[in-house]
Amino acid sequence: MSLKIITKDQIQKDSLTVEISGVHTDYTIDKTTVEIKQNIEQGFNLLSIKSQHPIEIIDVKIDNNSIRNYIYLSYIDEKEKKIQPATHISNTDQSWMLPLIYPYSNWITFILKNIANGHYGSDLFKDFHFFFPEKIEIKNTFSKVLSDYFYHDSEYTIIDKKQVGNWYDGSALPYQALQFEYDKIAICDEIKQNINDLKFDVDHPGQNKLNLEEFGNYEQWATCSLIEGTESNKNISIHEKSQSFKHLKHLYDFVNGLPITNLHHFMIATLPPNSFIYPHSDSGNRGFQPKGTATMYFNLEKVDGVFFKFGNVGLVPNEGGLLINNKKYAHAVVNQGKQTRYILTITGVSFDKEKLSILVGK
Ligand SMILES: [Fe+2]
Repeated sequence: MSLKIITKDQIQKDSLTVEISGVHTDYTIDKTTVEIKQNIEQGFNLLSIKSQHPIEIIDVKIDNNSIRNYIYLSYIDEKEKKIQPATHISNTDQSWMLPLIYPYSNWITFILKNIANGHYGSDLFKDFHFFFPEKIEIKNTFSKVLSDYFYHDSEYTIIDKKQVGNWYDGSALPYQALQFEYDKIAICDEIKQNINDLKFDVDHPGQNKLNLEEFGNYEQWATCSLIEGTESNKNISIHEKSQSFKHLKHLYDFVNGLPITNLHHFMIATLPPNSFIYPHSDSGNRGFQPKGTATMYFNLEKVDGVFFKFGNVGLVPNEGGLLINNKKYAHAVVNQGKQTRYILTITGVSFDKEKLSILVGK
């Protein structure tokens, strides 16, 4: 089986650079046809073509069968800017990118499921959010399941912008950055200074225990709940819920300064070097959770070597505050760096609708 890219004009020998998911790929040229004979890995792959001369792509063929519609999924990547629809490579800063899935039959099914016929040829980036996962190779000391999770994706993620919804009644987005400033350094220092007085728990049934039995001596990720999620305190204000840690001034001020109406559960989570959180979803965790609430996630330090991934979506940003859809999307984390990662998570957050629009920058 081969993949053929057909151009309008004849292609000059050695004028192209072809990569699949960042790896150089052999190809042959026959007049206006670029042929990739090499086997493509199962699942999601990103084909990229650079050209030293302007070229226009007019068709994509699997063996000799045209799947012309699918060139409308392609885009031009130029200095991190993505342009769509785009079938012309006009300068050497541009890469023509085609997000594909192997076997190609799965690709066809996937696209037909997500994009209705009328959209082809229009600007898909205007109507849909696309998330293309990157292939991450983690250390081979981690388990095969975990390394496969970070390297392979069966598909990518397409979300119709009309179906996104709001975070207070359930967003379809995997995550969204928050426009909220907080004193990361002061909070992190306060946690480190008080680490021996904070009660951390490493018992995470279904996540860690499973792996420790299977793989032995890993460092364990740990959580310290500052506000416990119980049904009995659901109507109590954040101010009252946070009295027990009033002496931790920065954490107390942080949680009371959030532009939210209430929250269910507030915790610190640590991820030491050489530790991991196995793929899981948080659906049903933390006991009772009010309906129509979201999870906030705050990175306190940028730690090199930490990868937090939503499957079929890609890496979640390592910095700043986020709203995360940790109930809908399976996720896993590894720390193969040298420092412990500290984060704060707040689940069951109910929003003030006006403040939410400021928080997500709309
Ligand atoms: Fe989680």
